[in-house]
Amino acid sequence: MAIVFDETNLLARMVGDADGITPEELAAAEPLAAQALAGVKALTEAGVIGFPNLPKQTALAGEIVTYAGKVKGSYDTVCLVGIGGSALGAWALDCAIRGPHPVQGDHSAAKPRLVILDNVDPEFVQLALASMKPKKTLVVVIAKSGATAETVATFLIVRAWLAAGVGAKGVKARVVVVTSEGRGDLKVMATNEGYTTFHIPENVGGRFSVLSAVGLVPAALIGVDVPALLRGAAKMTATAWKPDLASNTPLRAALLHFLSLTKKGKTIQVAFPYANRLWGTAFWFRQLWAESLGKAKNRAGVVVHVGQTPVAALGTTDQHSQVQLYMEGPKDKLFTFWAVKKPADPGAIPAEKTGLEGFDYLTGQSLAKLLDVECKSTQAALTENQRPNCVFTLDRVDAEHVGMFFQLLEFETAFAGEMLDINAFDQEGVELGKKFTFGLMGRKGFADFKKRYTDYEARRKG
Ligand code: PA5
Repeated sequence: MAIVFDETNLLARMVGDADGITPEELAAAEPLAAQALAGVKALTEAGVIGFPNLPKQTALAGEIVTYAGKVKGSYDTVCLVGIGGSALGAWALDCAIRGPHPVQGDHSAAKPRLVILDNVDPEFVQLALASMKPKKTLVVVIAKSGATAETVATFLIVRAWLAAGVGAKGVKARVVVVTSEGRGDLKVMATNEGYTTFHIPENVGGRFSVLSAVGLVPAALIGVDVPALLRGAAKMTATAWKPDLASNTPLRAALLHFLSLTKKGKTIQVAFPYANRLWGTAFWFRQLWAESLGKAKNRAGVVVHVGQTPVAALGTTDQHSQVQLYMEGPKDKLFTFWAVKKPADPGAIPAEKTGLEGFDYLTGQSLAKLLDVECKSTQAALTENQRPNCVFTLDRVDAEHVGMFFQLLEFETAFAGEMLDINAFDQEGVELGKKFTFGLMGRKGFADFKKRYTDYEARRKG
């Protein structure tokens, strides 16, 4: 079981000094990597951040698995109500383990599906509700703050839909809440209405929470092997604490991405999975990298406006939509390929010849080989055009590898935050928009934000 990082095509010897990292630059930055490792370790030991310790929470995982075992058979759909860090991890897991949409296959009480309501588009919510049956749906509502407007509004609709379908008294058995222990109105409602509740540790932020109850509850309910997920994450955690750069994959990846951003102007990172099962993970990663590293100020309060814009592209599909730009457009990108060494099914191409040259060179080969060749060909083409790229290769896509990969990318992000000297764990930029929404929707205590918004509208009118 392994995830291998290959950084060769990020180096100057492959893409030239202007775009690639030179041995001198790498050597000079090694002390920064050591500092980043010490910084993340100190934050963990002080309890400021909790994600590194989540794989050790075997008692919580046990409780969640036991709960899932108790309710198994009573639903064929898990309806997750949540947004951002409270939804993307579950999507990543569902896509990786149950399979990508729309080819997951039939759902049943034995093989329940996951429907994620992470947008307040009324048509989307109505279509989703129309596709579910209240008596066969288990609703998981997730909000760390217990107050996100989208989640609360959608949950009120779903709760009323459940009550109409199973009766007011039946709702309790069909709702699970994941929220903070000591704050938020969702917690109050969960207590008042007697919903089964799991808590999110205060020191685990939304985008780092996939291995807390936020990801584990929906995962267990759709049949993901939770112990295997945590086992993989624990293995990567051990790697992430290794002091030497050569064997610490997340630290090395963070350093190379940091140098590509700060020394070579690669302000965009294209996360490029060559596996549909990893497509959800690419969207989860987009939030992790963007919200953690996109910051106005450094730790000393100096305005820096740093960050690297994450973009998700799918191989080979996006070779036919994005690669023209990637090859010839602005030299502002680095590419992080995500490859899978052993797809579960090689996808054998029938050996029978057709007599057509454009077909027959492929007969008897496999889709797995074609996918692999296309991935390597794209890397070679980008490299020839001085476009730096690197690869994470997962042995397989299973719960253990996905757990490893989540933890690898979370550590990489945390280390990169230390190297950039910013706080990777807050999200002030998201909060302002939320406050305007509260003000405009009439929430008590947010009238100032309504006023600020009104002033802004006045300015627009000139
Ligand atoms: O990473 C984050 O902190 C955010 O994306 C949150 O997860 C998102 O805003 C949802 O917040 P909450 O869980 O409080 O509803």
